Amino acid sequence: MEKGLLERFEGLIRRHGYTNRSEAIRDLIRQELVKYEWTEQKNISVVGAISIVYNHHKRDLLNKITAVQHKFYDIIISSQHIHLDHDNCFEVILIRGNPGKAHLLADTLRATKGIKHVSINMSSTGRDID
Ligand code: NI
Repeated sequence: MEKGLLERFEGLIRRHGYTNRSEAIRDLIRQELVKYEWTEQKNISVVGAISIVYNHHKRDLLNKITAVQHKFYDIIISSQHIHLDHDNCFEVILIRGNPGKAHLLADTLRATKGIKHVSINMSSTGRDID
């Protein structure tokens, strides 16, 4: 490995508090395997969370968000709604199931006018990453 690259990696390891290099490499490999599950694997089950921020005063938005979630009921485990302030809501939707469908749910929410922010946290059932 190039010296500069290795030095930058060592810096990253220290910043993240790893006690040794192989622990950091192990985490990177797992991260890549989870990414692979979410992007390349078609017939497996993944877990994750989609979080959204929106203004609940926006006309019809609550209905739209509910309708989208009903459309994807088979991959939604639960959702939690937090009232951030007078106008803004934060909702976390926990998902388990087909990764393609999970991406489609996130994309559908992204395309819903009025939602300010959508983020997806891609995790794994852990079955295929040791
Ligand atoms: Ni709210």
